[in-house]
Amino acid sequence: MARPLNILFASPEAHPFAKTGGLGDVSSALPLALKQQGHDVRVIIPKYRSIGQSKRSVKPMGLTVAVPVGTKVKSGKLHEGRLNRTVPIYFVGRNEYYDRKEFYGDADGEFPDNAERYIFFARAVLEACKALDFQPDIIHCNDWQTGLIPCYLKTTFANDPFFENTRSVFSIHNLGYQGNFKKRYLPVAHLPRKVFSMEGVEFYGHFSFMKAGLVYADRLVTVSKTYSKEILTPENGFGMDGILRHHQSKLSGILNGADYGEWDPQIDVHIKTRYGPKSLNGKLECRKNLARKLSLKLPDQTPLICMVTRLSSQKGIDLIIQRFTDLMRQDAALVILGAGDDPYETFFNEQNQNYPERFRFIQGFDEKLAHRIIAGSDLLLMPSLYEPCGLTQMYALRYGTVPVVRRVGGLADTIKGFQSGKNQGTGFLFKPKEEHKWFPLLQKALALYSKKKVWRNLMLNGMKQDFSWEKAAKQYALLYRRALKK
Ligand code: ADP
Ligand code: GLC
Repeated sequence: MARPLNILFASPEAHPFAKTGGLGDVSSALPLALKQQGHDVRVIIPKYRSIGQSKRSVKPMGLTVAVPVGTKVKSGKLHEGRLNRTVPIYFVGRNEYYDRKEFYGDADGEFPDNAERYIFFARAVLEACKALDFQPDIIHCNDWQTGLIPCYLKTTFANDPFFENTRSVFSIHNLGYQGNFKKRYLPVAHLPRKVFSMEGVEFYGHFSFMKAGLVYADRLVTVSKTYSKEILTPENGFGMDGILRHHQSKLSGILNGADYGEWDPQIDVHIKTRYGPKSLNGKLECRKNLARKLSLKLPDQTPLICMVTRLSSQKGIDLIIQRFTDLMRQDAALVILGAGDDPYETFFNEQNQNYPERFRFIQGFDEKLAHRIIAGSDLLLMPSLYEPCGLTQMYALRYGTVPVVRRVGGLADTIKGFQSGKNQGTGFLFKPKEEHKWFPLLQKALALYSKKKVWRNLMLNGMKQDFSWEKAAKQYALLYRRALKK
């Protein structure tokens, strides 16, 4: 038996303490799955305001870390909680940076001090290892907010005996968010001048935290096989494709899992009636209950389409807006739960007035309602322009909610196209280059809803899919061991 590993999972968010999207889900589910496989895994995130206010137990540890930021040395207080009562999660507290309602920005845009907030966090993660006397074999970093950690390990801490055997893995969850800041933050981060080069953190004259992760991590991983190839192309590389091609030998793709401890209609604590493949009636109850709650008119033959999503252009929201009037002419109802860009929120809020019986937009982030909507709907629409993995479609499958998606990234790797006559497939996919076909495809799916037997089989095909984290966690453990051989 290979020895268990010491793993520190550094992330800007982790459910149920802090979540804005899929990264929050991954940052609790993957550590839990690794723990089950015997590893000593711990998670570390910033201590945002909501964490102090939650009912979950979060205790000060009496430990402080000191981080040089510009000309000052700033201190952070460590707090501790547990994920699912098993995995320790540490919170780096510093009110000046994290005692805010939102994590990354508010109505006025991104927080102007984001560079400083995540410089502090990155270095605090390393100082926390020392304060906790936890020597990680692997620090698993996630997205640009943690991108400086691999860079510190290879520079500032390169000769530090404490980290002599520590290797870093950097996960790309979304290349569209890069954390590119002004060059003047380099001395704020106390990084040597030499890292500001083409081979280092310099990106078109800016100091890129994402690039720092890509260049200095021992291993790179992204959240689906297809996305790991897409990001090597200029179309999907967000300017980083050349860098990624250069570092291709250390890049791999591991498909995210779905946390069935949270997302399974047979045990879901949030939904009205529990159900499963052998007791589908519960889904009808959930549907009725949802329609009542949202005051939607939903006769039995009318399918309910849903979206639970960040409202950003990534998610293909423009397609919905372009065909909204046509969509409202179908025998279908639509519910959208989402928060994000202003123009999208404004548009959907207006449509609430125009189509009160068949459309409902709920603006905001609501975990419980997300479960109820996915359980109570018949179809999930996810026409994302790009999708590194996507978790919502995997959850939808388990709830018998049939996905209609664009064949990109993780959507291509998780949804199998429905084939009429063969009783095969789990959803509907349109090709990225055939965007105009998405609406006829949706119409085709809607028409199938009246064919009760076919629809039932389609639902059951999806409900039987198994995307549990166990498999992914094993692949990560292998990846960590490969990083350690370096
Ligand atoms: P992304 O991480 O790009 O937002 P994913 O599909 O990977 O997309 O993950 C989205 C996660 O966030 C899912 O758990 C989904 O249920 C949740 N989510 C998205 N928007 C909302 C919302 N408005 N309210 C509640 N949960 C949401
Ligand atoms: C990002 C991606 C999403 C992915 C999630 C978790 O937010 O947009 O596709 O599922 O990270 O990896």
